[in-house]
Amino acid sequence: MEYTQSIKAIRASIMDIARVVDKPEDIEQNVRFIEDGLMLVENGRIEWVGEWEEGKDKIPSTVRIRSYPGKIVMPGFVDTHIHYPQAEMVGAYGEQLLEWLNNYTFPTEARYKDKDYSREMSRFFIKQLLRNGTTSALVFGTVHPESVDALFEEAEKINMRMIAGKVMMDRNAPEYLLDTPDIGYNQTKELIERWHKRGRLLYAITPRFAPTSSPEQLAMAGRLKEEYPDTYVHTHLCENKDEIAWVKELFPEQDGYLDVYHHHGLTGPKSVFAHCIHLEDEEWDCLHETDSAVAFCPTSNLYLGSGLFKLQEAWKRKVKVGMGTDIGAGTTFNMLQTLNEAYKVMQLQQHRLSAFEAFYLATLGGAKSLSLDHLIGNFEVGKEADFVIIDPCSTPLQQLRYDSSKDLPEKLFMLMTLGDDRSIYRTYVDGRLVYERG
Ligand code: GUN
Ligand code: ZN
Repeated sequence: MEYTQSIKAIRASIMDIARVVDKPEDIEQNVRFIEDGLMLVENGRIEWVGEWEEGKDKIPSTVRIRSYPGKIVMPGFVDTHIHYPQAEMVGAYGEQLLEWLNNYTFPTEARYKDKDYSREMSRFFIKQLLRNGTTSALVFGTVHPESVDALFEEAEKINMRMIAGKVMMDRNAPEYLLDTPDIGYNQTKELIERWHKRGRLLYAITPRFAPTSSPEQLAMAGRLKEEYPDTYVHTHLCENKDEIAWVKELFPEQDGYLDVYHHHGLTGPKSVFAHCIHLEDEEWDCLHETDSAVAFCPTSNLYLGSGLFKLQEAWKRKVKVGMGTDIGAGTTFNMLQTLNEAYKVMQLQQHRLSAFEAFYLATLGGAKSLSLDHLIGNFEVGKEADFVIIDPCSTPLQQLRYDSSKDLPEKLFMLMTLGDDRSIYRTYVDGRLVYERG
């Protein structure tokens, strides 16, 4: 009996995207939509996906069928850039990046020296991810190793695929938040040893951004990356014009902002750079050549007045992109709302973001950006069973608009325009139900 309990049979509409693409025009032909579908999950893996009629006889008689009529099963959303300690300061008023950091962010992050507090907020954070259908995330902690221990301990309880790291920061921030090159190195090393590849957890070497790390610290970060080549690197890049001017002052010997990271060995297929709004030509080239990824964070970029990310340029340059909420400069944990804002960011640049492209970025494209597309991002047999049951009609307005939508692209576009946490009906992580709408 114990054996069959690890099998789950989900009946609903099913949608995913079959493969990673390198141009947006190729997404549509790879969309799979099964109106009356069946997904079988066994021991946390996708076992079978197809038409209900074709698959129903495969369901062992002891297994309960979880039927979600009118709902859509999608791969869990992938958030490629988020700060868990900033959940409590979303919506801080009136500043752009550098003032916002000094006035709001740094004082808030000081609280995470306390492990109990970090644990409480980690629980809150993971609940927020799940109620918004996000099943994987690349997460900033604070400078305190306790903050990262607490987050990983909570993620481990539900076997969530989570990547996180302790902030490395040894200058240009309040004294109470600084480490040193040696302390940052040693604490990071210990955390890597403790957490990287433990279950589904992975570690990201996390220098906050170039202005808050000395060249010595960046060299230490590079050394860690060399010692642990399959860890991630997670930082910020070219978000704000004053920030960029400051980096050029602080690192006159380097050839621009990205070169500061590149010079220290911090670019590569497992490097994720948040924002990348004001990139120069050579920086696009460097991202492409090193196969580094960008986190597109529309709500944050609008909120802090940072600028408009050139998504079309990223496609053209063949640079990987995933969606990031960037809580707490970002204003929502919700990926649907994030896609809604991404659409508007592209509108302001005379570019149309289709629903298929948007959902690609939020699922398989995000997985690819995190080098996890062999494990998550769609329902290929054998992949990890992280998925979300979407209610496309969770409000009267959505119902009205759904009924007047003529095809799947319109329905999905309605969902990303009007959807929010009410659209998330159930969330499954590792094949287990972890969130039910109230
Ligand atoms: N650059 C350096 N730190 C941060 C941060 O916490 N949030 C954002 N949006 N940008 C940053
Ligand atoms: Zn950020």
